[in-house]
Amino acid sequence: MGSNEEFHVVTGAFGYTGKYITQRLLSLGKKVRTITGHPNRLNPFGGKVSISPFNFDNPGELVKSLRGATTLYNTYWVRFSYKQVTFDKAVENTKTLIKAAEEAGVRRIVHVSITHASESSPFPYFRGKGTLEKTICQSDMSYAIIRPTVLFGHEDILINNIAWLLRRFPLFAVLGSGNYQIQPVFVEDVAELAVKAGQYEENMTMDAVGPEIYAFHDMVQLIAEKVHSKARILYLRPELALFFSRLVGYLVNDVILTRDEVYGLMSNLLVSGNPPTGKTRLSDWLSDNAERIGIIYASELGRHYT
Ligand SMILES: NC(=O)c1ccc[n+]([C@@H]2O[C@H](COP(=O)([O-])OP(=O)(O)OC[C@H]3O[C@@H](n4cnc5c(N)ncnc54)[C@H](OP(=O)(O)O)[C@@H]3O)[C@@H](O)[C@H]2O)c1
Repeated sequence: MGSNEEFHVVTGAFGYTGKYITQRLLSLGKKVRTITGHPNRLNPFGGKVSISPFNFDNPGELVKSLRGATTLYNTYWVRFSYKQVTFDKAVENTKTLIKAAEEAGVRRIVHVSITHASESSPFPYFRGKGTLEKTICQSDMSYAIIRPTVLFGHEDILINNIAWLLRRFPLFAVLGSGNYQIQPVFVEDVAELAVKAGQYEENMTMDAVGPEIYAFHDMVQLIAEKVHSKARILYLRPELALFFSRLVGYLVNDVILTRDEVYGLMSNLLVSGNPPTGKTRLSDWLSDNAERIGIIYASELGRHYT
């Protein structure tokens, strides 16, 4: 990439959100470089996207990957602590990335966070995100912080795997009462919002949320209907449901559900009090994709640790 060409950096362009942000930037004629943990993964964008490894332990190289970029779209995060990649490590890595972007002269950061991120959250996922939001607000760059609830789309894990479980097992365990709320947002709507936010100069923080709010058990029921599941829905104490999720996780060699996700969901952290930003309805998307959702188990460990 020539040094006089304006370009954008997207973390994780071969992943989920980063892929749709990249697609959108390319469709607007922008040049993109990705920084990724999988620089050798099949590049669906061919020569249109250049690739650099994360290099968190070599900040000088990270600065080089970012030098000349106008905007950094950051999706980097971990869903749970696993082996050496703990939440604390992910916070440290993200701070390294932010510092490298400042040093490289990046003007704006569009950072994907989560609804209700807070430094004082009891949940490490939300707490780490809160810490990083503060770091970004104090950085030299102008910022847009985008806070999605739970995403849905073709590469989705949570909703896909609910469908997978409903298709395969005669019973499905809902945590507790199932009355807590969830407000899923379409990944392409989040990407659209992120890319729009990248074009402004003001600092902004906004929730990225879909138009439908479900009680969790109603969403499970809806997915069950769409995939013609006859599974009986059981309401279990969260710890018991977590225990069963570990058993199934053992079968598929993955972490299906984490304690943070269970209690975050049950504390209504995946619903926003703000007006919807996305227009795509989960109910419509499920109808359009009923044949393919949940056919294949989507593995978090398979995606990030192989
Ligand atoms: N998915 C959701 O439902 C959801 C909901 C709310 C907020 N968010 C936020 O949205 C952002 C993007 O999420 P996503 O689901 O689209 O993620 P993703 O594409 O699977 O991953 C995003 C980036 O993080 C890296 N990464 C993920 N897990 C990792 C691990 N265990 N070790 C090392 N690197 C790892 C990926 O590395 P590679 O480049 O190597 O793939 C990629 O660069 C995250 O900040 C997340 O917190 C997601």
